[in-house]
Amino acid sequence: MRAKEKVPLSNFDCRGKTALITGAAGFLGGEHAMALLEVGAFVVVTDVDSRRLAIIAKRLAQRYPQKKFLSLQMDVTRPNEILETSRVLKRRRIDILINNAAMDPKVSRTDKASFADSRLEILSLEKWNREVSVGLTGAFLCSQIFGTKMAADGKGGVILNIASDLSVLAPDQRIYRKQGVSKSQQQVKPVTYSVIKSGLIGLTRYLATYWADRGVRANALSPGGVYKNQPKQFVQRLESLIPMGRMAKKNEYRAAIQFLCSKASAYLNGQNLVMDGGRSVW
Ligand SMILES: NC(=O)c1ccc[n+]([C@@H]2O[C@H](COP(=O)([O-])OP(=O)(O)OC[C@H]3O[C@@H](n4cnc5c(N)ncnc54)[C@H](O)[C@@H]3O)[C@@H](O)[C@H]2O)c1
Repeated sequence: MRAKEKVPLSNFDCRGKTALITGAAGFLGGEHAMALLEVGAFVVVTDVDSRRLAIIAKRLAQRYPQKKFLSLQMDVTRPNEILETSRVLKRRRIDILINNAAMDPKVSRTDKASFADSRLEILSLEKWNREVSVGLTGAFLCSQIFGTKMAADGKGGVILNIASDLSVLAPDQRIYRKQGVSKSQQQVKPVTYSVIKSGLIGLTRYLATYWADRGVRANALSPGGVYKNQPKQFVQRLESLIPMGRMAKKNEYRAAIQFLCSKASAYLNGQNLVMDGGRSVW
């Protein structure tokens, strides 16, 4: 008798699973959504920004006309909105949660002072609280609400926290320096970013053990800097810190998302997959 033929990559198959992504209307959120649509998941894209959410929903509908997704406005800092999302979804069980939302100001060509209020000496408590509430508290709240449900029926699930190479590295503030600006006025990557991303790794480890006996796995993905037409000097400085000599392309995390959210990573739990072109090992 012939051995049963194995479907190639069948462990990546997410058909029958529902994934919810927070902050899905941003630069990488749409990529995460596409990654999961490609392996057959039903995807719920959520974001606080309804305008950008409509844009990403349109793009997904164009690329994936079979329409296996839903877009819902949801602010991760507001427990009532997360609970409302859970209610709207009714019987649709969330099997995969991607905590991706963050306040992540980009180094841009036009906005000269985008980090100007981020220097440690002057960073306001209000800014600290706002950023932590999105990037860290938001991940806790979503994990609490959706994770509890995953654990309750014993069918398990996957929680994936999107961290950053700055979960394992201190930011090298030299790469953000602008010419003609005094040292005390130089823009910096804010302390909140390091604290949030390191905190997400702690949250990941905690969740990975807390519901392990209920089949809920938790891992983190730590992307390195993704190229988005940033100023040439910034790109050159960052690339010089990366053994592979280049920033990431935005679609280079798709396969990792598929791996981390599917059965392909069934025995991976509590880990932080750092995909940074080798920056953190140099
Ligand atoms: N882009 C990069 O180079 C890079 C590198 C490493 C890590 N990351 C991480 O990847 C994730 C996605 O990054 P990105 O580049 O797409 O960022 P982005 O700023 O483009 O998107 C973040 C999204 O989060 C949403 N958001 C903000 N506050 C929210 C709230 N209260 N509730 C719900 N949504 C909210 C924003 O509206 C936005 O759509 C972030 O966690 C970021 O820190 C990005």
